[in-house]
Amino acid sequence: MKKFVIQGGIPLKGEVEISGSKNACLPIMASTLLVQGETILHNVPLLRDIETMINLLKVIGAKIKRENHTLVINTRTIDNTEIPYDLVSTMRASILVMGPLLARAGAVKISRPGGCAIGSRPIDEHLKGLKSLGVFIKEQHGYIQARVNDLVGKEIYLNEKSVTATENLLMAATMAKGETKIINSASEPHIQDLKKFLVSMGTDIKEQNDITVVNGAKKLHPVEYTISRDYIEADTFMIACAITKGDIFLKQGNWFDSQAEITKLQETGIEIKKTPDGIRVKASNNLKPSCIKTAPYPGFPTDSQPQLTSLLSITPGRSIITETMYENRFTHIPELQRMGADIKIEAGSPGNRNAIINGVDHLSGAKVMCSDIRGGASLVLAGLAAHGETEISRIYHIDRGYEKIEEKLKKLGANIRRI
Ligand code: EPU
Repeated sequence: MKKFVIQGGIPLKGEVEISGSKNACLPIMASTLLVQGETILHNVPLLRDIETMINLLKVIGAKIKRENHTLVINTRTIDNTEIPYDLVSTMRASILVMGPLLARAGAVKISRPGGCAIGSRPIDEHLKGLKSLGVFIKEQHGYIQARVNDLVGKEIYLNEKSVTATENLLMAATMAKGETKIINSASEPHIQDLKKFLVSMGTDIKEQNDITVVNGAKKLHPVEYTISRDYIEADTFMIACAITKGDIFLKQGNWFDSQAEITKLQETGIEIKKTPDGIRVKASNNLKPSCIKTAPYPGFPTDSQPQLTSLLSITPGRSIITETMYENRFTHIPELQRMGADIKIEAGSPGNRNAIINGVDHLSGAKVMCSDIRGGASLVLAGLAAHGETEISRIYHIDRGYEKIEEKLKKLGANIRRI
């Protein structure tokens, strides 16, 4: 099994290019099922989750060609609407084909996603919303069987601002009869990207505050589209710079998408500046502690929480992180404790957990293990800052969401090897 070996203590310097967004690319790939023809996608990140989505679309009948960061997806004919357990258990986001398949074929049978390392991650909001649009759903032997004659627009209220539920319902609504109103819809930058893509295909989408209104179209047309940059990857590199006392430039980094994270990082003393073609980050030798609470966009993203935990673990003073989205998104903390971090996990108000961090002088390299994508990234950052050698195992988690992270870090001067 592959591992990363990192010799810590080198300040990152130079320029890094941010890749296409995984969480934008996955629903956009799924929504190519809405059209009959050839969609061309540029800036597709080279990631394991994208490979899984390619395999999934092929199972459905799509023909796919890939050249570097470009995908050509031919969805002229589809011949299967059954998504097996193996694909869904590899990647929960497989659930994203539900909406488009119901719109295209009126049927889907998909393995129900089970538990996940970061939390229970229910899908009740997806199913409730689809039922409102007229979908009949039956569950048996671990599979969800859904079918519909005609999707009909409705008002749907989401109890949770769920990212993939919003995306699934948006995609289903593109072909529904009449108007669908998704109230309390999520609005993360990757959802904005999906909306842009759907609009370019001919969907009528309007939004006001947290309400998304879709007017169903009879037919959509295939397009050529460029996936937006990954703001979570940008956050990860900004924090990598801060934790190593570096000075880097994020080529094409999108300031607007990372606004909450940039503001919080600036509060800790890090210098972050917007330039016409990216973001300049300069570390501070005088970091201040911070308190953050994860929240749906435009709040501080749960996907950047583990990386910030690593930085705060060596920031003098007492910091508090409150995780509100997932009950288990602190799996990186016991690993950081093995590296010398002083962090205590406490139950907070219902649904929240707090990490109380007392900044230590330094972390020391150790053997640690990843449990999920972002927790894995946080251990890489900790290793870059630590004294001595850090060996990180189970890095396949990191490969699901970060394109060639070690090559990008090496270019910035880091001593990191994949063995
Ligand atoms: N929730 C429900 N019921 C539902 C759906 C969600 O109660 O039917 C709750 C969840 O338990 C959670 C909250 O709503 O507390 C938000 O979950 P959400 O549905 O938004 O998560 P997701 O759509 O499954 C996406 C990203 C995650 C990211 C979350 C939160 C994709 C493919 N995945 O997941 O990304 O953490 O939104 O922003 O977009 C990652 O990239 O590492 C990753 C895990």
